[in-house]
Amino acid sequence: MSEAAEAMRTGAAEAAYDVEAIRAEFPILSETVHGKPLCFLDNGASAQKPRAVIDAMRWSFEHCYANVHRGAYDFSERTTAAYEGARATVRRFLNARSDAEIVFAKNATEAINLVAHSLGRGLLKAGDKVLISEMEHHSNIVPWQMLRDATGVELVVTPVSDEGEFLMDAYRERLAEGGVKLVAVTHVSNVMGTITPAKRIVEAAHDAGAWVLFDASQAVMHMSVDMQDLDCDFYIFTGHKLYGPSGIGVLYGREDLLERMPPFLGGGDMISSVSFETSEWADLPAKFEAGTPPIVEAIGLAAAIDYVSGVGLPAIAAHEQDLLRYAMQRLAAVEGLKVIGTAPDKTAVLSFTLAGAHPHDVATILDQQGVAVRAGHHCAEPLMHRMGVTGTTRASMGMYNTRAEIDQLGVALEKVVKIFG
Ligand code: ALA
Repeated sequence: MSEAAEAMRTGAAEAAYDVEAIRAEFPILSETVHGKPLCFLDNGASAQKPRAVIDAMRWSFEHCYANVHRGAYDFSERTTAAYEGARATVRRFLNARSDAEIVFAKNATEAINLVAHSLGRGLLKAGDKVLISEMEHHSNIVPWQMLRDATGVELVVTPVSDEGEFLMDAYRERLAEGGVKLVAVTHVSNVMGTITPAKRIVEAAHDAGAWVLFDASQAVMHMSVDMQDLDCDFYIFTGHKLYGPSGIGVLYGREDLLERMPPFLGGGDMISSVSFETSEWADLPAKFEAGTPPIVEAIGLAAAIDYVSGVGLPAIAAHEQDLLRYAMQRLAAVEGLKVIGTAPDKTAVLSFTLAGAHPHDVATILDQQGVAVRAGHHCAEPLMHRMGVTGTTRASMGMYNTRAEIDQLGVALEKVVKIFG
């Protein structure tokens, strides 16, 4: 049973959840749109920021800012301590073994590209297979296609069910065919919210001699994760969906593997010495952090992690699961609405089609009612083809959403139905 389901079963976390107090921490939620209260249901694209994040970044710009790892003066040392402190916060959040396993990148896409480029320079070779699933975001498809075209690695795709579940038997069959060196799959589908069976995916991959990379961009804000328990090789997420700033992503990598991997980008800070003939690389994690890093963004991300951890991920998960169940019931009353992705273990993401209405038209009319959702292929075109749709409208819920907002969505959708007859 997932943590979210377990939390719902006990009901313990939900009892203590004060959503109004949480909303008060997010200044933007008091905005109005087209004269209606903002109903922000596009958290899968990017989440809003609590005061703690805004304040931490403001504090850094006002009181603690210089370049890091370079200056011999107090302000640089202070800023370096704050930046490296942020790394330690991420390490604790993931329960990684050491700070060397935590690499900061610009976003999850850059982190996946980092792994693809680096593994492609010696650790993966022509004929080796990289296995992805049908429900990947483009950011976990395109880098592997580029690697395939550059190196001759083979790309293998494992299927999902009509409900959007990860099919373990089909996955095991693909592993049994041999040659898979890397499994690169999502931990949570950005379109359907499906939670993939991460632990079983890792066990099967390791039995087959493959490394495992998870794109966890849609996972870490909905459940607590533990790298030592999960035992995957790479775990990647972005800051801005975790209530932190944009411009920062995290690559967790197993230290022994990162040690074996060549750098992705070259430049300042990732070297220990440089001459015109050759260069020596810095120790982890600096080897993978060329150039001035996202300093204030790292401090903001750490503030977001502290904030979310303070509320408690089990409590957040229980609240969101309550919203999901409520939304499923409420939206069932909307004529012609079909949910895409009904896996039993899923986060509070509802993708749907509405008979006779294009998702972009649905989103535009919802916007007039103050409801912000995403519409289209959600950067997952192959999944759209698999599910037999050209696009969906997606409501993705977060820690501050309420049942009243689900009602606002339901009423707005009924207006769409009236307009489209
Ligand atoms: N990957 C983000 C989404 O799913 C942008 O909307």
